[in-house]
Amino acid sequence: MPDLSVEQFQRLSQLIYQKLGLSFDEKKIYFLKTRVAKRMATLSMADAKEYLFMLGYADPLGLEMQALANLVTTNETYMFREYEQLQAFANHCLPEVLSAKQARGERKLRIWCAGCSSGEEAYTLAMILQEVFPQAQSWDCEIVATDIDENMLRKVIAARYGCRSVNEVPEEYREKYLIEDGDEWLVRRRTAALVQTLHLNLNDRMAMRAMRGFDFIFCRNVLIYFDDLSRKAVVDHFYNALNPGGYIFLGHSESIGRVTTAFKLKRFENHLVYVKE
Ligand SMILES: C[S@@+](CC[C@H](N)C(=O)[O-])C[C@H]1O[C@@H](n2cnc3c(N)ncnc32)[C@H](O)[C@@H]1O
Repeated sequence: MPDLSVEQFQRLSQLIYQKLGLSFDEKKIYFLKTRVAKRMATLSMADAKEYLFMLGYADPLGLEMQALANLVTTNETYMFREYEQLQAFANHCLPEVLSAKQARGERKLRIWCAGCSSGEEAYTLAMILQEVFPQAQSWDCEIVATDIDENMLRKVIAARYGCRSVNEVPEEYREKYLIEDGDEWLVRRRTAALVQTLHLNLNDRMAMRAMRGFDFIFCRNVLIYFDDLSRKAVVDHFYNALNPGGYIFLGHSESIGRVTTAFKLKRFENHLVYVKE
């Protein structure tokens, strides 16, 4: 394990924060040390000073930062996570947006799953969409699943999951939308086809400006790793990315009240969601 002084830890967390918006305080020193140790072993480097120099000054394409990002992100996820919130989406928000679109003669629906990890959330939304709106196949419907972690995006594309990922999937959904294959589950092709993947850093201003025209944004259990400043930047981009009448869903214990007042807060059953008026 490399020796990482407090100053070196601070420099490392500053570089990560600038690039990814993720905030690591000193309690995370051991966590970051183990991740840096992996990178240093791969690069045959013995000195943390050398690694920090490379990361700060000799990584013009951001390849080393990307390799580090793949190691420092927390990817915990599973299908139908925070089920009650999904019920608010399925029973209230989705029907409301769909009927407004139908009234306007629109046949396009776009959902952004930001910080999708290995894809369980995006495929959950695809299942709910097909269930609530069987006409989805004849509309132009798209769920854009984005993440910074390249290893996770490969898993989204594979659409193959272990038991832990599918444990919470209601039985009737499991039969309809998944195929059992040994001790794994594959997402059926019709459902998988609704999901597109995109490598995207939520802290990348230019990339975020290109994201427009969404009816729903799910960014659950992602912004908890950001601080107020980087969280505000992301949320401001989300506001611009949403169509009027569009909704943003955060994790159930997350709030953006401290960083913006742009959204209106709505309560459905027991759940709070943010809407762009
Ligand atoms: C805990 S997972 C959440 C997965 C899913 N949204 C859920 O609630 O189950 C957090 C994800 O956010 C991603 N992430 C963290 N920082 C990011 C950034 N700056 N840009 C894009 N994705 C990021 C991580 O790679 C990770 O896959």
